[in-house]
Amino acid sequence: MSSPKKSFYLTTPIYYVNDAPHIGHAYTTVAGDVLTRWHRQKGESVWFLTGTDEHGQKVLNTANSNNVKPQDWCDRLVESAWKPTWQHLNIANDDFIRTTEPRHMERVQRFLSGLKDQGHIYSGKYEGPYCIGCEEFKLPGDLDEGKCKIHGRPVEMVSEENWFFRLSAFVPQLLQHYKDHPEACEPTSARNEVIAFLEGGVQDLSISRSTFDWGIPVPWDTKQVIYVWFDALLNYATAVGLGDAPGTEGGEKFAQTWPADVQLVGKDILRFHAVIWPAMLMAAGLPVPGKVFAHGWLLVGGEKMSKSKLTGIAPSDITDHFGVDAFRYYFLRAIPFGTDGSFSWEDMSARYTSELANDFGNLASRLIAMIEKYCDGVIPAVAHDEALSAALIATVATADSAISALDFQGGINSIMEFCKRVNGYVTEQAPWVLAKDPANKIALDKVLYNTAESIRALAVLLHPIMPATTQILWQSIGANETMGDISKQKVSDIAKWGQLPAGSKVIKGAVLFPRLEEKVL
Ligand code: ME8
Ligand code: MG
Repeated sequence: MSSPKKSFYLTTPIYYVNDAPHIGHAYTTVAGDVLTRWHRQKGESVWFLTGTDEHGQKVLNTANSNNVKPQDWCDRLVESAWKPTWQHLNIANDDFIRTTEPRHMERVQRFLSGLKDQGHIYSGKYEGPYCIGCEEFKLPGDLDEGKCKIHGRPVEMVSEENWFFRLSAFVPQLLQHYKDHPEACEPTSARNEVIAFLEGGVQDLSISRSTFDWGIPVPWDTKQVIYVWFDALLNYATAVGLGDAPGTEGGEKFAQTWPADVQLVGKDILRFHAVIWPAMLMAAGLPVPGKVFAHGWLLVGGEKMSKSKLTGIAPSDITDHFGVDAFRYYFLRAIPFGTDGSFSWEDMSARYTSELANDFGNLASRLIAMIEKYCDGVIPAVAHDEALSAALIATVATADSAISALDFQGGINSIMEFCKRVNGYVTEQAPWVLAKDPANKIALDKVLYNTAESIRALAVLLHPIMPATTQILWQSIGANETMGDISKQKVSDIAKWGQLPAGSKVIKGAVLFPRLEEKVL
């Protein structure tokens, strides 16, 4: 029996439910959604996981200060804030894991018992600083005048009898791993940071806490709960059946997905993902993920936007004004993935107007208006323009290699360059001039077909980034009837010229990107 081809498996961090999502969380999740939609359009089987991190002191303290039981607090936040936000942003995740689910908790306990049996766990005493914001045991270099450098808040001193994971034993294997597989940690700046950290010496990790009980019990010592990060990191594997017997549903799922291909994280949680997590997997004898990619931060006033500093902007504050698709587009277009960036209302308005409303939206509405006016609303005979077709071939190749390498900005740039080129073609050919003389009918039809065919390609290229708008456009050019669902169009077919069938009826749809003034009071 041959096993089915391995799925492209992508994960986002599982976010703390101490508060509702802000645009920083949305940034990671949208990037994951765009990349997985792109891979689906490459014809691959895809598994896309996101979820919530619900244990630990931070969530417990938040629930306590709201006078709510922690489980009730988590249920409320997940149902009223996290899941609805992803739905609103059109995120097509295949699964959503919550760390309070039995499927996760049972597999975490089994995994930990396995590590203990293998001799990777021992008891000891932890004494040192802990940041509740990070849920992290801190090193002296992580602090600035006794405060966490990320959260700017005082750390607490912890002194407890804990269980420890022999993390230090895995340093040579981790260094070898990044030497052999530089692509396993990107961008390069992130990999260099991880290697420097490993070379600086790593201590064993306390993986349990005894002073509160909001967590997964250590199976052999139920007075302790498992350290929240040890619990949380395992979500990527528990969600796909970690440790389940071959032949069971979980075992099959694991065989089809593991190891994850891409793990997206913000650079704040790079060490957990590039040091602790692969070491946990190595200890268990499991393959490590293909790539962890640490993107940059969205900044407010030069600092990381954060829930705890109350600087978070809710995604709806932006989508109410610009729409969901412009939101999905903007951050990936404006900020190189891997670099910090500041959100600016002015920059977003400017790009919305010039790139989305003018270059893309107007091109589509002009074409549809002209086909209605000059061709009775029917796509004319298939024609071919050598220059446009060659430009499209190059665009698809560039976009595919850039997006597949997580260079979203590079990929979107190449697509929008093609869009500009099509606009240039229309201006140059001036179909409205050709239309003045019936003798030019064949030439006019050619120009309109070539423009429509270019828009067909643009719709497919932009679909992973702006699924709703491109779907409307797809309907407007009559492609849904003749070519089927836009999401079923393959990346490898986009550049084949002449696919939009002659005779399709165009339908004037809603304006794709309405003028912003019309949306303000
Ligand atoms: O760290 N800019 O959860 P978290 C860009 N539960 N991305 C940002 C951001 C910003 N200003 N703020 C948040 C946790 N993010 C753990 C993760 S995983 C096993 C456990 C995004 O709620 C970014 O992806 O603090 C960052 O790494 C993540 O949200 C942190 O979310
Ligand atoms: Mg955080």
